[in-house]
Amino acid sequence: MVKKIAKYQEIMEDILQQALTGKILVGDRLSSERKLAQHYQVNRSTITHALDELTAQGFLLRKIGSGSYLNKIPSSAQLPVWRNFPTNSFHQLLPNLVKKLPENAIDGYTGELPLDLIPRIPLPKFNWQDFLQAEDHQARGYLPLRQLLAENNQTKADEILITSGAQQGIFLILQVLLKPLEKVAVLAPSFFWNLPIFTAAQIQKVAIPFHQGKIDYEVFAEKIQRHHLKMLFINPTFQNPTGYTMSVTARRELIAFAKKQQLLIVEDDAFAKLYFPETPMLPTLHELAPEYVLHLGSLSKILGTTTKIGWLLGPEKIIQQLSFARQQLDFSLSIFPQVFATVALSHLEFPQQLRQLQEKIQQRGQALYLAQQESRLGQAQKPTGGFYLWLTDLPAEINEELLEKMRQQGIMAAPGFLFAGPNNSLRINFTRIPAKLAPIFFQKLQACF
Ligand SMILES: Cc1ncc(COP(=O)(O)O)c(C=O)c1O
Repeated sequence: MVKKIAKYQEIMEDILQQALTGKILVGDRLSSERKLAQHYQVNRSTITHALDELTAQGFLLRKIGSGSYLNKIPSSAQLPVWRNFPTNSFHQLLPNLVKKLPENAIDGYTGELPLDLIPRIPLPKFNWQDFLQAEDHQARGYLPLRQLLAENNQTKADEILITSGAQQGIFLILQVLLKPLEKVAVLAPSFFWNLPIFTAAQIQKVAIPFHQGKIDYEVFAEKIQRHHLKMLFINPTFQNPTGYTMSVTARRELIAFAKKQQLLIVEDDAFAKLYFPETPMLPTLHELAPEYVLHLGSLSKILGTTTKIGWLLGPEKIIQQLSFARQQLDFSLSIFPQVFATVALSHLEFPQQLRQLQEKIQQRGQALYLAQQESRLGQAQKPTGGFYLWLTDLPAEINEELLEKMRQQGIMAAPGFLFAGPNNSLRINFTRIPAKLAPIFFQKLQACF
């Protein structure tokens, strides 16, 4: 059962979350108590209670007659305070709501392919000794897999580190190439806002507004100056959650900006192979500027999340440093998934199965988009690949009550605020919704508003 916390604590948590995610910055003035009371729909005394508590903890500075200002950003070192509080945060609530979905429900929330779309690759027979033979004790990962990936990415095997999923690549970058309390740029919305590993590494994310695929470079440059940003984390192809893909011109513009600002880029390309058959493949940021970009790949979105195979591609020196650090942290990889991944990727049937997958997700993506257009509920861009339809401008905020209504209707999707998106937006995984169910999904969603 989800325990309730007092309203003032919920408001404190929300304000700290906004500070942590860069929505309010040190020195920023909070809205007036009257406006906050309206916003949270509580009495002014509840707001005063929350602000008094935050002031006592040093997060706010209150200037008489002028208002409350953010005084410091909660670092994860200070966060354990929150462990003392029972919390009903959405992060706990959502998986529970999904678990409670009826059996025939339509789950557009989960960020994975449904089992029926995962390629069926036959595996050869192995015996235990085959695996031990395959083990080559290479710190960067199983050599045949690195060679295969190097070929696919037109690079050298020594510039590749096999990781336990793209997330381990992100984790290593945060732990090894950055120092605690350093800040990085992250587009808002983006899936990185939903990754607790930034907080765990005490790396602060600063939001770079991203609207309809456009980055405001004036704001970005100002934020680099103000926060001494070291890196940009970006997912330029079929972005999670917006599905947006940066054009070649936008990619070149970003690279030129990064070079001018001496900003390193971490390119997360987890959806790279999931383009619809007629969508053109664009050059990666890494291909455009290998010296400025660390590139992350993953098999999770094609062969299932539990495959736990990802890779990091970058200058050899950095790859060496990261692989050395991983050994020290004792995060070495098991040989088993690496051998299986090599078998799957080099299987004769793999290209054809991938093509079929691309066709099926196109069919589902187009059906859901069509259903959205016909329902006239919210706004969406026609998907060109990946997993997601990003539904914005919905007539009401996605809150606990609305998610419960969706559960009762037998549907689910991820609320946009998980990704620092607008409160009235939803991310829907169309790959999990068979085409014939797409209109039903929208009918049920419409009934929730
Ligand atoms: C853009 C993006 N990158 C990376 C990941 C995680 O990949 P992995 O399972 O390889 O750690 C996800 C999973 O949702 C994702 O959406």
